[in-house]
Amino acid sequence: MITLKKVDEDNFRKVVGIKLNEEQSKFVATNVYSIAQAWIYPEVARPFAIYNDEEVIGFMMIDWDEKEREAGIWRFMIAEEHQNKGYGRRAMECALNTIKESNKFDYVYLDYVPGNDAGKHLYESLGFKETGEIEEGEIVMKLDLA
Ligand SMILES: CC(C)(COP(=O)(O)OP(=O)(O)OC[C@H]1O[C@@H](n2cnc3c(N)ncnc32)[C@H](O)[C@@H]1OP(=O)(O)O)[C@@H](O)C(=O)NCCC(=O)NCCS
Repeated sequence: MITLKKVDEDNFRKVVGIKLNEEQSKFVATNVYSIAQAWIYPEVARPFAIYNDEEVIGFMMIDWDEKEREAGIWRFMIAEEHQNKGYGRRAMECALNTIKESNKFDYVYLDYVPGNDAGKHLYESLGFKETGEIEEGEIVMKLDLA
């Protein structure tokens, strides 16, 4: 079963050790960088290890900004050896359910690097729509929860 658990002292080494292929490494910051960001923005950043049963298979960081009623998928990856098994979709569904069930948000945003076809396909199939904005070269998408 796919679940999200907070990054903690038991799993952070596994999270930091997750590998992507060379092309995909351009699509997302390193997990060390993301965990450092979470330290800098503790009031909104929520870093999670993605588990398949007991095994760490990915990483996600949610931007949990209750003040703005806006949640974001700040980082998201599934380790190369675990891709294309449906885990990414299930992890994203878990995150979106948690966000929706909190009733604290009106929408969810994310962005992706042009050429990231797997990300684009997955997000569109879950209802995200491009807003037309480009932020730091990345295409912004939004999912309306209303
Ligand atoms: C994006 C990512 C998280 C998807 O994880 P995954 O576990 O492989 O995803 P899934 O197996 O659940 O597949 C999701 C969908 O993408 C599709 N897909 C996979 N590779 C694809 C590609 N190159 N082009 C188009 N669609 C693709 C799958 O067919 C599947 O679609 P379906 O459910 O309609 O059949 C993973 O590819 C990844 O970690 N990429 C590198 C980091 C990254 O790009 N993160 C996102 C930053 S915005």
